[in-house]
This record gives sequence, C-alpha cells and structure tokens, in this order.
Amino acid sequence: MVLPIYLYDHPVLRQKAEPIEEITPEIRQLAQNMLQTMYAANGIGLAANQVGVPRQLIVVDIGRDEGMKRPLVLLNPVIEAVSEETETMEEGCLSVPELRDNVVRPAAIQVRYRDLNGREHRREAAGLLARVIQHEIDHLHGIYFFDRLPPLRRFLLRRKLERIARGELLPPYPVVLGPAPVEERLEA
Ligand code: NI
Repeated sequence: MVLPIYLYDHPVLRQKAEPIEEITPEIRQLAQNMLQTMYAANGIGLAANQVGVPRQLIVVDIGRDEGMKRPLVLLNPVIEAVSEETETMEEGCLSVPELRDNVVRPAAIQVRYRDLNGREHRREAAGLLARVIQHEIDHLHGIYFFDRLPPLRRFLLRRKLERIARGELLPPYPVVLGPAPVEERLEA
C-alpha cells in the first residue's frame, strides 16, 4: 500500500523516533508499505517519520532501475563510525519537495542495524549509499538535510520552506501537511 508522505513542517518530522523492540507483523507491513511508497515517489530512501510513524525504521534502495532493485530495511540503525573525509553532494527530500541543496557529510560510514528477521548487521557504506543512510537516520532524530546547511544558505531557503509548509509546493504523490499557521515555528 502506498502511504501519504508527511511534508515539512509537520511536527512528526521533528519527533525523535522510538526504537523497535519487537518485530511484529505490523512492523513488517510498515516496511513493505514504506518501500512501495518510496518507489512510487521515485525516492531512494524513506524514514518511518515521513509516513507519520515515529519508530526507528528506514528503507533504502539506490538501485533505481527495474531489475536492479536492492531494497534495504534497517531497524534501529546506528552510525558507529564515520570517515574523516567528507563529501559534498546535492540532496533532496520527499518531505521537502522542490528544494535541493549541497550538503557536506562524511564520505563513508559504518552502520549497525537489525533486519526484519531480527538479525544484527554491521556494514560499511560509501558514496551514495552512505549519503542516503545518513540522511534517513537524521530523519529518525528529527533532523532535515537543510538543518546541515550553513546559516546563510538556510536563511535564503526560508521563503521556499514557508511555501512548502503552506502546501503551495505540492509533489505528484499523496501527502499530509502539518497544521497551520506555520510562520511562528519557522526559524529564520
Ligand atoms: Ni528526507
């Protein structure tokens, strides 16, 4: 089932996600729905808060093309180590339509997580995969990619963010908007 994606500035996107203690049928279903939702919106990553569920679950697939799909489901993901080397890459977000910007992040990471069978994994990632995993884990902590931009850059984006929050920049997939008014919650 394709779920609606919550847009900036819905409060659930600022909420810290709770760990998943038990892998219930509901959690499995949520993971499947999140993958479907991500593919339907042409995304390469999605965090559970983005579908309104503040639990520590992210899905990732950087193999965009049909036949190349390699879905990853990460429960309770933790970044255990990051490279000193950083990389600048343009990011966007399904919760922040029509806004893209260059974000500096560590180029490689080591992440620990559980899969849907409860098995623990440790894996290293670099390049685009490391990028997406870091972006999605940020969501679980209530952090948007634009929070990582230099203050001046963020200041210049604020009008566009206001328009997104008002529902004036709607993407071609189903969404949930946050409650209005928004002005007083926006950080300049
Ligand atoms: Ni995002």
